[in-house]
Amino acid sequence: MRLSVAYVLGLIGFAVSQSVDSYVSSESPIAKAGLLANIGPSGSKANGAKAGLVIASPSTSNPNYLYTWTRDSSLVFKTLIDQFTSGADTSLRGLIDDFFSAESQLQQTSNPSGTVSTGGLGEPKFNIDGTAFTGPWGRPQRDGPALRATALISYANWLQANGNSTFVSSEMWPIIKLDLDYVAANWNQATFDLWEEIQSSSFFTTAVQHRALREGATLAAALGQTASSYWNSNNYITANTGGGRSRIDANTVLASIHTFDPAAGCDAVTFQPCSDKALASLKVYVDSFRSVYSLNGGVAVNAAVTTGRYPEDVYMGGNPWYLTTFAVSEQLYDALIVWKKQGSIEVTSTSLPFFNQFSSGITAGTYSSSSSTFSTLIGAIQTFADGFVALNAKYTPSNGGLAEQYDKSSGSPVSAVDLTWSYASALTAFSARSGDSSPSWGASTAKVPATCSNGGTVAVTFTENATTQLGENIYLTGSVAALQNWSPDTALLLSSADYPNWSITVNLPASTAVQYKFIRKFNGQVTWESDPNRQLTTPATGTLTENDTWR
Ligand SMILES: *[C@@H]1O[C@H](CO)[C@@H](O)[C@H](O)[C@H]1NC(C)=O
Ligand SMILES: *[C@@H]1O[C@H](CO)[C@@H](O)[C@H](O)[C@H]1NC(C)=O
Ligand SMILES: *[C@@H]1O[C@H](CO)[C@@H](O)[C@H](O)[C@H]1NC(C)=O
Ligand SMILES: *[C@@H]1O[C@H](CO)[C@@H](O)[C@H](O)[C@H]1NC(C)=O
Repeated sequence: MRLSVAYVLGLIGFAVSQSVDSYVSSESPIAKAGLLANIGPSGSKANGAKAGLVIASPSTSNPNYLYTWTRDSSLVFKTLIDQFTSGADTSLRGLIDDFFSAESQLQQTSNPSGTVSTGGLGEPKFNIDGTAFTGPWGRPQRDGPALRATALISYANWLQANGNSTFVSSEMWPIIKLDLDYVAANWNQATFDLWEEIQSSSFFTTAVQHRALREGATLAAALGQTASSYWNSNNYITANTGGGRSRIDANTVLASIHTFDPAAGCDAVTFQPCSDKALASLKVYVDSFRSVYSLNGGVAVNAAVTTGRYPEDVYMGGNPWYLTTFAVSEQLYDALIVWKKQGSIEVTSTSLPFFNQFSSGITAGTYSSSSSTFSTLIGAIQTFADGFVALNAKYTPSNGGLAEQYDKSSGSPVSAVDLTWSYASALTAFSARSGDSSPSWGASTAKVPATCSNGGTVAVTFTENATTQLGENIYLTGSVAALQNWSPDTALLLSSADYPNWSITVNLPASTAVQYKFIRKFNGQVTWESDPNRQLTTPATGTLTENDTWR
């Protein structure tokens, strides 16, 4: 008997789907329990964590992740809030209230990035008892306030809809507004990216800021608050701008799933999962790992492979991550939700390379649900998406525990154990696979210009070689608004990631003469560099790097 290729592929697809089904049903309760175990005060692995604070992982050495990160915690709680508001788990309200109260206290905790009004909201992580972490770190990280606002807004919207607008207006709005004000004031400033390595502009950060500002404006309007400053029309998604890498990075996949709006169709401006740009990026991202990990050897060029943060990654040896591999499947499941709902798939010249993987010779056009191309694509992309889950399933140890990474050659778990974000990424991917999505956040009414003007600015990187004592930091201020008009109080904090070099990248007006100085702050005492003022003239376009030594 001869079996057709399509028949054999169909059987393989069926077998993969069966094993993914069984992984989803066994891993779902483990991921949920693993996530809850990492939340204080009563999570079984979160000993010592304050109520509502999420520990990133119980791992205390190599690496020590026993801290609470604003980004990770907000993504984790967004998952829990969605489960609560959808009615999937109505027992979570107390925990969500704890999260709200713990985060509002963290906002007020002075830390090395500043106080609540001088940049402290950009602080990436805190100790698990809610006190400031004062060691050196890649700070600030400006995605945290945006993600926290998004999580809290989704809860606030539910409370509003359920007759509790008093609590939203009087308790929640002031907290959310602090985060939104921070985003509105700082979206255009350099930031450490979500992997805490590159200080530049980061696509993920900008995309989640865009979402938070949009949602914030909608909530503000519903509460009768003014919010005209919450949407900045220049805030268009931009690529990672630093780091000297290929700039292929899971941050684009994460941006797409965390700004998914099922009511926004395949809009490319808001980088929806099924948009041509997001699909084209996804293919480039996935393909960049085909030759990087030996686990991916011998896999067909159009089949799923394990993926990591970015192909050049060397952290812990540079390995596949559970959460990035789940994110790929989630973007695809999100796309399938929209295509099925709208009853068609649009292929453009931009997304052609992506669709070619599943239907060679396909041409640009719109394929309606009655066409055989539509059914072929839906089936093949479902199998492709399941393939990523199946790989994570294959490298999940028998107890279901999800660490941060798994070894690129052996597939054994590597780095932090029980990573809360890994568990949350499993739950959201599984939920998307079953066709569920978070409620719309209003992306389809977002007004974003097709091109971005930087307002005639150029990025200037200031590097200052300065030896400091513990607790002492270096700041920058100068003669233009972007340098805080000579104000020592609001001077910009530099990063000590390349100590003794301190650095920061600031967008300054192009073709402009600028004067500046560095200052030291220690125990509330400000020390200025000696005279004269330093000066530079910004170029008309491009970037500039200034190297100075403390004097
Ligand atoms: C409103 O929600 C908050 C937060 O869960 C709760 O503490 C409060 O009791 C609620 N108020 C009413 C009137 O339901
Ligand atoms: C920093 O400056 C000091 C004093 O000029 C110099 O000895 C040292 O090599 C410099 N370090 C770097 C990293 O440039
Ligand atoms: C500062 O140093 C960097 C390399 O460390 C170099 O690319 C840049 O040209 C230097 N800037 C100036 C103004 O000399
Ligand atoms: C510090 O900056 C200088 C340029 O001023 C550069 O040559 C040197 O490599 C930098 N050192 C570190 C540790 O980044």
